[in-house]
Amino acid sequence: KRMISHSVTASSLIVVSNRLPFVLKRTEDDGLVRKPSAGGLVTAVAPVVVQSGGLWVGWPGLQMKETDSVPESVEGDVSPTAGLKSSQVLSVNLDDVDYELYYNGCCNATFWPLFHSMPDRAIFNEKFWMAYKKVNEDFSEITLKALRKMQTDHPEQVPLVWIHDYHLMLAANTIRQKAEEENLQCKIGFFLHIPFPPWDIMKIFPWEDMILQGILACDLVGFHVEDYCLNFLDSCQRGLGSRVDRKLMLAEHGGRTVRIRPLPIGIPFSRFDQMAHESPNCGLDTNNVKVVLGVDRLDYTKGLVNRLQAFERLLEEFPEHIGKIMLMQVAVPSRTDVKEYIDLKEDMDKLVGQINGKFSTPTWSPIRYIYGCISQQELAGYYRDADVALVTPMRDGMNLVAKEFVACRIRDPGVLILSPFAGAGGMMHEALLVNPYEIGTVAKVLHRALTMPHDEREVRMNALRAREKIYDVNFWMKSFLKSIGTLIEEDGEDVTP
Ligand code: G6P
Repeated sequence: KRMISHSVTASSLIVVSNRLPFVLKRTEDDGLVRKPSAGGLVTAVAPVVVQSGGLWVGWPGLQMKETDSVPESVEGDVSPTAGLKSSQVLSVNLDDVDYELYYNGCCNATFWPLFHSMPDRAIFNEKFWMAYKKVNEDFSEITLKALRKMQTDHPEQVPLVWIHDYHLMLAANTIRQKAEEENLQCKIGFFLHIPFPPWDIMKIFPWEDMILQGILACDLVGFHVEDYCLNFLDSCQRGLGSRVDRKLMLAEHGGRTVRIRPLPIGIPFSRFDQMAHESPNCGLDTNNVKVVLGVDRLDYTKGLVNRLQAFERLLEEFPEHIGKIMLMQVAVPSRTDVKEYIDLKEDMDKLVGQINGKFSTPTWSPIRYIYGCISQQELAGYYRDADVALVTPMRDGMNLVAKEFVACRIRDPGVLILSPFAGAGGMMHEALLVNPYEIGTVAKVLHRALTMPHDEREVRMNALRAREKIYDVNFWMKSFLKSIGTLIEEDGEDVTP
């Protein structure tokens, strides 16, 4: 019998991400309160930061004043960041100019579309880039402060700096250089939560060499899937002339060897399963109308316009569904100061109106459109009670909605329709995979999903659930820590038969 332990880190963790694991909101009396964030990353990583006495560097989501400080977590807090003391949080301030040029500009108007292989939507602007460099320097400086604190508090440990996502692709460079100058020990890891594009797309960015060098300043670079790893290795070879090994997934840079790894992220499966058990009846399964569900941030990468058109096509070509099905689309407001997102909101409002106008009867409308945030608890109820989930992004790093949907299918097995252009599409083989650009085919697949026999739905869903249960977000985090060599396996609970 083998004994393994649970997520014990050999070193303290310094997480660096654009957003802190909670957002701060201003109260009426000008104080600050923490509002929990719900993402999987936070659920998995925050408890490890708490347990390892680690630190989290990030932006609190609002302008901090001189007199502000991060509040302590309040008593009775049950969020994943409960127990994360204010002394463990190092907030990075973004002023109005940073917010506009770095966040709205370089992150969300340049890198977001470019990395999703939509270069025609990307804006290239030197001012954005200057701001990106400056903010990445700010994050690096604060991370170095965190490293100095670690060195003083735990001189025996080599801390792990874990940088997240496309907002911070330059940070590792400065951190490594200055840490070496000051003799601060650390390992640096990076995980990209969005796709890494092919070299043909990457090379459109005027300063692509700086981005590649920034990422290569790490010891381990994680992407969701192998394709993104290969795209990155390709870019390093062709853009920088680095020596790369595609089989072992290694790149040489500055006399060091950098490990590249596919590490597909999962979700907190048991939390969603439990929420589905606890969520009250949400009214979706009471009126004999089958529900097709879509849940997305309102983002052009999610394929929402194509999805509405496919639903319209279904009603045209399979009129037997008229009056018997509805599409419930939840669109969560996102990046509302960026033009492409403002335009998409208008397009969606129009299209929903047009389709509803065309097909509605006095007692039925085909589309129910919710533009707003809904709680995870409520969402779990929708996932559980809908009949079909339509997850059809044009391009998506992984897509967690597909995974959350299957985790919540604790009653009737529903059907998952999934785009092959999401990272999840390469693994969730028992879903119905469909190209979102082929609107007529999406309509046909929807018809198939709506008429699929119970047995087939059950076989598919059981397999999907079993996989996500094993490869959950904790598995992902442990795999990352293992790959960079900071997970101790020691005697613990016996888990093997
Ligand atoms: C994606 C990114 C995250 C980001 C999230 C929400 O999932 O990979 O890094 O936090 O979108 O976007 P926002 O701009 O609101 O942080």
